[in-house]
Amino acid sequence: MESMNKTVFSRRAFLRTTAGAAGASLVAVSSLREPELTLAEPQPTGPSDRVRFGIVGIGMEGSGLLSTAIQLPGVECVAAADLYDRRHDLAKEIVGKPIRTTRRYQELLDAKDIDAIIVAVPDHWHKQVVVDALAAGKDVYCEKPMSHNPADGLAMVAAAKKTDRIVQIGAQRTSSVLCAKAKELLEQGVIGDLNLIEATYGRNDPNGAWEYPIPPDLSPQNLDWDTWQGTAPKKPFDPYAFARWRCWKEYGTGVAGDLLVHLISGMQFVLGINEFPKRVSAFGGIYRWKDGRNMPDVHPVLFEYDNVPVYMRLTLGCESPEVTRFQGSKGSIELREFSVIFAPQAGVDLSPSYYSSSFPAAMRDAYVKQWHEEHDPVPGKEPAPQSITYNGNDYDDLRPHLWKFFQAVRSRKPVVQDAVFGHNAALGCHLANESYFRKTPVYWDPASQTIKSMG
Ligand SMILES: NC(=O)c1ccc[n+]([C@@H]2O[C@H](COP(=O)([O-])OP(=O)(O)OC[C@H]3O[C@@H](n4cnc5c(N)ncnc54)[C@H](O)[C@@H]3O)[C@@H](O)[C@H]2O)c1
Repeated sequence: MESMNKTVFSRRAFLRTTAGAAGASLVAVSSLREPELTLAEPQPTGPSDRVRFGIVGIGMEGSGLLSTAIQLPGVECVAAADLYDRRHDLAKEIVGKPIRTTRRYQELLDAKDIDAIIVAVPDHWHKQVVVDALAAGKDVYCEKPMSHNPADGLAMVAAAKKTDRIVQIGAQRTSSVLCAKAKELLEQGVIGDLNLIEATYGRNDPNGAWEYPIPPDLSPQNLDWDTWQGTAPKKPFDPYAFARWRCWKEYGTGVAGDLLVHLISGMQFVLGINEFPKRVSAFGGIYRWKDGRNMPDVHPVLFEYDNVPVYMRLTLGCESPEVTRFQGSKGSIELREFSVIFAPQAGVDLSPSYYSSSFPAAMRDAYVKQWHEEHDPVPGKEPAPQSITYNGNDYDDLRPHLWKFFQAVRSRKPVVQDAVFGHNAALGCHLANESYFRKTPVYWDPASQTIKSMG
């Protein structure tokens, strides 16, 4: 997820300690169909299967995308664009062989030897790069959240619909094996009727709150600051905005677009829905990081999706693990960073009702006696309900998601997380932000294509 390095490090440390346990549990679940192993799909066979890509934005996320993509079979990086020259050096370091670098991403779009573009620029630049790349006939992998605002999302969907190009948005968990497992369990009906979804995620450290270190040499000489600002209001060179853009709505989309979008995308995938929420009510504020930011650091949000209430709580003020819990009449499915836990519930009384304490003794005794006669299991046949845990070795791996994209570039088959999917997930985030700022419940009005306040 976000703050790649932080989570990558902690994830690796975790894996070292749990590798044995994960292997044991995977054996135990082999009776259930395993989701497709993405690398088991047909491998590229000849030079014509090679996909040549260019990358726009080689920052924190772009560097991870680049190093992951170039390790995939039949995938090659030929050019990189970034407005900060040091990131040209970084791209060359990562690729380890000569590639073209430029400040102008348009040069990548004009290049005939580039099939696909990976877009890893800050949110406020997504729309323009994607629309331009599609117009130039390139397939596009664009980072989440797809859009910076609803209007950008609509423009991107329209651009995608005008072409037959592949567009995949980069909320990578929709390609994770654990998400697939949660989806499979839900489809099997193991939790009965779904009636509530809740999700939480919390951080409590400066890195997690986007207070990233400024690159020491950053200056208007090695960064095209004017272009970096895009359509945002122009201001003098601000290295903090460059490195910590997530803190301000002019460039980023807050915890909603940064983190909530992963939870929403994962939920859309598990539920098999591709729609925006019917209504949204958000609360929160800047409680922990009073550093001049204008986006909330505590952001609890209530959604109504597909007739199911969804309560998602995001905070940068207190650390808590990332969990999405699908709750139903027969139990819960808990999607965690490294596991999926199915805990069945009988949904029946397991003992006489405590209400019987309000009965006089003779009546209570008769009731209790009868209850036991009718409900107690046959001796020796007591049930032992089983919870099942599936362990994945990486919930948040970019590799399967990138692989799906490059496979789609080859096969021309549609991807799950296309522009409409990405737009709907981002719209959930924009509604959450808008409700927070307006201090009122909001909904998306398809007729006017705007966000409206309720009531
Ligand atoms: N999928 C995930 O888990 C995940 C994780 C982190 C970030 N992201 C997303 O990736 C995107 C990039 O985030 P980041 O943390 O890498 O940001 P970053 O600031 O570290 O890097 C962005 C880079 O884009 C460059 N850039 C900006 N505008 C440009 C333009 N017009 N042309 C060329 N280069 C331009 C900047 O100079 C910078 O080097 C964001 O949308 C973010 O939400 C996704």
